[in-house]
Amino acid sequence: MKELIASAPGKFYFFGEHAAVYGIKSIAFAIDQRMYCTVKERSDKKVILNFPDLGVSGWQYDGKLQSRETAFVTATINRLSARAKISGVELTTKSEMKAGFGTSSSSVVAAIGALNELFGLGLSKEEIFRTGYQAVIDVQGTGSGYDIACATYGGMIEYVKGNVPKPIPYPKNIPLVVGYTGIKADTVKLVKQVAALKEKHPEHVRHIFSQIEKIVNGGEKALAENDVDALGELMNQNHGLLVELNVSSPELEKLIAASNGAGAIGAKLSGAGGGDCMLALAPGKTKEVSEAIKSAGGTPFPGIVGEGLRVEKK
Ligand code: MEV
Repeated sequence: MKELIASAPGKFYFFGEHAAVYGIKSIAFAIDQRMYCTVKERSDKKVILNFPDLGVSGWQYDGKLQSRETAFVTATINRLSARAKISGVELTTKSEMKAGFGTSSSSVVAAIGALNELFGLGLSKEEIFRTGYQAVIDVQGTGSGYDIACATYGGMIEYVKGNVPKPIPYPKNIPLVVGYTGIKADTVKLVKQVAALKEKHPEHVRHIFSQIEKIVNGGEKALAENDVDALGELMNQNHGLLVELNVSSPELEKLIAASNGAGAIGAKLSGAGGGDCMLALAPGKTKEVSEAIKSAGGTPFPGIVGEGLRVEKK
């Protein structure tokens, strides 16, 4: 019986969240924490799913998008089934990430990577990305796809919704610290909240988005030139605009204030807002900023850029 493991990373937005949903270019990166997906051939025709981190074991795939826990991988198998018959396999995911780092999208990409290899589907990187994005839309009905892009391609990417992600140059060892609030963000709710604000104040929100677009362009240049001061300033500006979009939260603000107080030169929420994580840029001060995040009630860890989808073992 053949068995193999594929893995895909979690992700963070550097610049451009929320505006990205409206087709504005964004910059995001894969982190060095991963989701592992083991696939094992079975002697019968069943497809069995195990997600021990989510308390799911021995779930028989039936193609229905029911619980949130099983929906992402179910949608993934549904999409792959259009290409080949997926049967006689047991699939188990195992995460080394906290929730909020993109665990759903990395499980989608790790599952595609593993099934692609086991069933010899021959999917290209772009096809993996597109299949994964379709699966996410099947489940959530919304999203830019940047999380699937990061999980597939890895590194730092420039991304426009629905387009092929473009890897961009970035300095090695960016002094980034991530602070996790411990609160799970409700992405769909926050995306809808911004849509409602846009409906009510279209000009104002359009103006915010156009300022975010300039920040993304500036961020790309600063990353290519390793201009840490410019990066920090752009992070602060981007955060200010996200506050204007009303997607920050008291917990995020607390971690951001603590980081700034401990010497970060830039800090912003990353992702949907409302919880999840913030990023701080802290040249020469990563230890102090990590400690400040911890004292402010968050969980700090180094923001290290990681690799995309890979097959671990054949
Ligand atoms: C969610 O992590 C980030 C949003 O921009 C949505 C998306 O890009 O899919 C709010």
